[in-house]
Amino acid sequence: MKFKKKLTWFFSAAAISLAVLGLYAFKAAHNPDKGYVVTQSRWKNLKVLPQDITKDSLMGLMKNYETSLSVHCNYCHTPSKEDPTKLDFPSDEKLEKVIARGMIKMTNEVNANYFQPYFPDPKPKQVQVVNCVLCHRGAPNPEKYLSQMGKMYKTYDPDRDNRKEKEQEKERKKSE
Ligand code: HEC
Ligand code: HEC
Repeated sequence: MKFKKKLTWFFSAAAISLAVLGLYAFKAAHNPDKGYVVTQSRWKNLKVLPQDITKDSLMGLMKNYETSLSVHCNYCHTPSKEDPTKLDFPSDEKLEKVIARGMIKMTNEVNANYFQPYFPDPKPKQVQVVNCVLCHRGAPNPEKYLSQMGKMYKTYDPDRDNRKEKEQEKERKKSE
């Protein structure tokens, strides 16, 4: 009886380990960034980032864009013409990359013009108060959730003073 119990334990443990390993294998096989390896050693088409940015710093930024928008490299970078399993990083073919470039510029300007002047001396060279995730919150296009703001406010504070809202509701019903 005791031996049988031990055997059951052994097999359950083995089954769980196999399941976990299987999940890891699945995850690795479905890693969409696999193959998007940066092989170039010099940057060819940087228009807003510093020309001499190191590979580590550039990759840190790119990873940050991915998580901020919940996308992968191929959301902004177009497939290579010679080998479509690879990406053509310097190409500006995708509109998303061009928009992203403007977003980087905007974010830098907001930080420099509206935050940096108000930091007490000595001023840090780069102030990062506003960043992609502040607006995007894991969505490629924040307009979609911003359009739901009206609904979000209602769940914010159920005990809020909503007399104004009720008035507006009445007005709307009257005009319908
Ligand atoms: C949200 C859009 C976006 C995502 C996602 C993104 N990138 Fe970029 N990437 C850019 C922009 C914009 C530039 C150009 C910046 C500039 O003009 O200074 C760029 C430039 C680059 C460059 C330099 C190319 C050159 O030589 O000019 C490399 C390399 C690169 N990205 C790799 C990656 C990798 C790898 C990933 C995924 C891990 C990634 N990017 C994800 C927007 C993105
Ligand atoms: C001040 C808020 C704000 C910040 C900061 C911001 N974004 Fe955006 N971004 C937006 C809004 C709003 C839109 C949608 C605009 C539209 O549809 O016209 C957008 C759209 C985009 C798009 C196009 C999405 C699509 O496919 O429609 C990309 C790519 C993008 N942002 C990348 C970035 C990156 C990368 C950063 C950080 C460097 C960044 N954004 C910082 C507000 C912001």
